[in-house]
Amino acid sequence: MRSAEALDTPQAVLDVIFAPDRPGDIYPYYHRLRSLAPLHYVAGFHGQPAWVASSWNAVHRIARDPRMRSDPKTLDIYSAGDAGRGFDAMMRRLMLFLPRADHDRVRATVSGSFTPRAVEARRRLARQVVDRLIDDLPEGAFDLVRDFAYPLPVFMICQMMGVPHEDVPLFIAWAHDFAARGDVGPRLSEEAIRAGEAATAGFQDYFTRLIARRRRQPGEDLMSEMIAGRVGGVALSDDEIVAAAVLLLQAGHSTTADLIGMGTRHLLLHPDQWRLLIDRPDIIAGAVMELLRYDSSVQMSHRVAVEDFEVEGHLIRKDALCLLLNGAANRDPAAVPDPDRLDLLRTGINTAPFGGGPYMCLGQYLARVELQEAYLGLTRRMPDLALCGGEPVHAGGVTLRGLAALPVSSERPHRHAA
Ligand code: HEM
Repeated sequence: MRSAEALDTPQAVLDVIFAPDRPGDIYPYYHRLRSLAPLHYVAGFHGQPAWVASSWNAVHRIARDPRMRSDPKTLDIYSAGDAGRGFDAMMRRLMLFLPRADHDRVRATVSGSFTPRAVEARRRLARQVVDRLIDDLPEGAFDLVRDFAYPLPVFMICQMMGVPHEDVPLFIAWAHDFAARGDVGPRLSEEAIRAGEAATAGFQDYFTRLIARRRRQPGEDLMSEMIAGRVGGVALSDDEIVAAAVLLLQAGHSTTADLIGMGTRHLLLHPDQWRLLIDRPDIIAGAVMELLRYDSSVQMSHRVAVEDFEVEGHLIRKDALCLLLNGAANRDPAAVPDPDRLDLLRTGINTAPFGGGPYMCLGQYLARVELQEAYLGLTRRMPDLALCGGEPVHAGGVTLRGLAALPVSSERPHRHAA
């Protein structure tokens, strides 16, 4: 792979960023793209014209402007033709891609469960789950991604939705296949398309049955709230509830799990910062925001222009697709001094790991609480945690980013919460 500095056109840099074998350290390529063209026009991105934004200013303005919307047109870049029809139809029903009025109605129906206050009430549960997971970790070597990072958010979101504990492994498998099908970077294999269809059918069938059960016997869970909820007197249809459940499960677990894995690795690669968090657990809220800025699990968002729109001296025409490289924006030196330095004590910086505007991450407070409890649990109970193994393998593609595994070890007895 050529070094970022050796690439002298925006297209050459984009070819690396969107390559199936993109490098794990993608940030030099983002810097290069930003310095060559902070807002770059590509005539044929998966067959359509698109703008790629990599500066803080361009990403921030486009994400927030009311003339830009999230639109099903962006889904064409994930299309796999007839063989991927089920997945495609489900994606088009996700609130993110509904017409604005429907998006706002579905979002308003579920948003009460994701307010800072509602989420704070779940902190104790998150702490208990973290403690239980650490209790179950072996002394010696283990895979932090598999044994800790994934089970925490999956358990939390399944518990919120009222999915029984014994069904959680099913969800992990479907969620994995659904996410693998939904990335734009790697060329899709037939197997990924097939697995994506099976996962979609699995979700559809499972949630349809769960809705029927909760209608007969409501519980204190999000599924029951979605069934009972009315916004402007309008209830969600079963299809809308299934799609909302799929989105919450999907958006709500791998993103957080990936950040637990990547964030822990970055902390262990910066022993002074790991030590700082051990000594100063009071800085955890800012520390999590810095880890999200430094290397986010959601690297890209999309928008489509509803009307002509000018940004950074370029005219974005109505219906043009915009790809927002959040990961590049979060390391723009114009927004953050010395952006490649991990500094858990940073304050007052421009950072938007949860996007912005009307589509801003609904689950951001839940994610923050889970991340805070995860890092606090690890630093408190496993202060001697160390990386083992060589270079990590990055999972995901251009949109989602994580680690396939994170081999670590801890020799200190940690079996019982202090
Ligand atoms: C580290 C964890 C997370 C990160 C980095 C993250 C990031 C993002 C980003 C960048 C967006 C797009 C915003 C935009 O286009 O402007 C988004 C949207 C969304 N996220 Fe998250 N997210 C995380 C965790 C969660 C969790 C835990 C949930 C729910 C349980 C969640 C639910 C959603 C939903 C529903 C949307 C779509 C919102 C809408 O259409 O109005 N996310 N997230």
